[in-house]
Amino acid sequence: LKREILITGDGSATIRLPEWDEQYHSKHGAIAEAKHVFIKSGLEHFLTKNDLDAIRILEIGFGTGLNALLSLQFAIRNRQRLHYTGVEAYPVEFSEIRQLNYTKLIKSAEKDFEQIHICSWEIPSEINKNFTLVKRKQFFSQINDKQSFELIYFDAFGARVQPELWEEDLFRKMYNALIPGGMLVTYSAKGSVRRAMQAVGFEVERLPGPPGKREMLRAVK
Ligand SMILES: C[S@@+](CC[C@H](N)C(=O)[O-])C[C@H]1O[C@@H](n2cnc3c(N)ncnc32)[C@H](O)[C@@H]1O
Repeated sequence: LKREILITGDGSATIRLPEWDEQYHSKHGAIAEAKHVFIKSGLEHFLTKNDLDAIRILEIGFGTGLNALLSLQFAIRNRQRLHYTGVEAYPVEFSEIRQLNYTKLIKSAEKDFEQIHICSWEIPSEINKNFTLVKRKQFFSQINDKQSFELIYFDAFGARVQPELWEEDLFRKMYNALIPGGMLVTYSAKGSVRRAMQAVGFEVERLPGPPGKREMLRAVK
C-alpha cells in the first residue's frame, strides 16, 4: 500500500494510506485526538477511579508511537508508573518516523520519542523509571493475555477498512485481557461497535469525541 505524510488539523503529522482513504490518526488533529481519546478519557479517567501504584496499558496498534509518547510524558509529569505494551504487526519504518513532527510540537519529547523507537521489540525496556515499554510484533488475533491489563487503547484502523477488527471475536480477547474494572477506550462511536462490545460483556458509554468527531466510546469490564 502507498503511504504518505499528511499534516492534520492541529498541525501534527500522520501517515495516510491513500488507497484506503485512511490515516493513522484523525485528519482533524493527530495529537488532539490522542490526548482527548487515550490520555484524557482513558488514562486520566481511569486514575480518578482507581488509585494504583502501577497501571498496565495495552495498545492495539502501536503505529507511530504517538500514544506511547504522550503516555510516557504523562508518567513522568505525574510520577505515575506505567507498564505499556504496544501490539503492532507492521512496524512503521524509521524513514517515516523521522518525517513526523511530534517532537517539534510536544515539549522536550525528542529523546523520549527516539528511545521509544530504537528500543528492541519483544523485551521490556525501561525508558524512564516510571515507564516500561514492550513492543510486541504480532497480529491482534494472536493476543491471548488473561487479566493482564488495567487499560486498553483500542486504536485500530477504522471499521470501514478493517471491519473484522471491530467484531465480537477481538473484543472478547480485549475483555479477557483486562482485569475486572479494567477499561477500554476508542475513537470509534459506531453503533455496531458498541453492540459488539456489549455482547461480550462490556458496559459501554458514549462520550464527547475529539475535535471533528461527535462521540467516542469507553467500555468497562
Ligand atoms: C490507526 S493505526 C495506529 C495508530 C497508533 N496508535 C499511533 O499512535 O500512531 C492502526 C495500526 O494497526 C496496525 N494493524 C493493522 N492490522 C493489524 C493486525 N491485524 N494486527 C496487528 N496490527 C495491525 C497497523 O499497522 C497500524 O499501525
